[in-house]
Amino acid sequence: QSDLLHMFNGIPFSTKSSTALLRSLNNFQAREDDLLLVSYPKSGTHWLAEILRQLYSSKAPHKVSITSPIEFGEVSTLEEMKSINAKRIIPTHLGYDMIPTDFKDRKCKAIYIIRNPKDTAVSLFHYYKDNPNLPTIDSWHVFFDIFLHGQAVCGSWFDHLLGWEQHRNEMSIFILYYEAMKKDLPKSVRKISSFLGINVNDNEISEICKKTSFTEMKTNVEKENSDPNNTVCALTTNKRLIFRKGTVGEWKNYFSPKQNRQFDDLCKTMLESSYLAKNILYEN
Ligand code: A3P
Repeated sequence: QSDLLHMFNGIPFSTKSSTALLRSLNNFQAREDDLLLVSYPKSGTHWLAEILRQLYSSKAPHKVSITSPIEFGEVSTLEEMKSINAKRIIPTHLGYDMIPTDFKDRKCKAIYIIRNPKDTAVSLFHYYKDNPNLPTIDSWHVFFDIFLHGQAVCGSWFDHLLGWEQHRNEMSIFILYYEAMKKDLPKSVRKISSFLGINVNDNEISEICKKTSFTEMKTNVEKENSDPNNTVCALTTNKRLIFRKGTVGEWKNYFSPKQNRQFDDLCKTMLESSYLAKNILYEN
């Protein structure tokens, strides 16, 4: 199944991200009003994208386009992005080092969504099992080691977080937690709207929260015929596979006590100095 993943910069990428595109990323011309939507896979990317879509469409003068991920497809992706006239919301799973430098030079806005890595690992395990664009995995046990060693698609969760964290002051980055969204979605939506400078009242916020609930989004995706070219994740061609459980703490049904210890030990070593990780690791 080597035709599904390939290595670039020491990171396993989907072959849906061509080598030529990955090599050309630095040629990308950013615009001041571009918004990057950054995540490690399975952190709630589609959820956040839908919230942004709803937020902007609640305000008529804002015309936005949620593009396909910047790392998705061939070199032509970069050309296609040029032809978009609206404000671009650009999803990506790339690590900070690989983000086109023009985004950094222009200090573009970015939202970085983080999810507890244990739940992220379990979610990605199911994605490996269900998604024909990812290699087959025999068991949770096997996948656990792949994730722990940073060999899953898009590389190490830890490196992704630390890379973005170290440079978080070089762009205008807003950090969002999946768990906080689950706990109090209106509060998160309000924070997102003030980061983006969108004025929304309480009624509009509660409307957006209704439309972006797990059940609502799952039901809607089952009704629509997903367009494989319209995706916010370079691994996704079937959006129906996205809405699985949408809960916090599923990892407890998968991690053995030994795996949990191993994972916690790695967290201690890797994330000791991480300010962003403190909010998630010791809560669940
Ligand atoms: P699970 O596999 O744990 O169910 P991504 O969009 O980055 O691929 O992330 C997918 C994960 O986000 C899945 O987690 C999915 O169920 C969850 N998700 C998607 N929409 C959601 C929503 N509206 N509310 C809560 N979780 C959601």
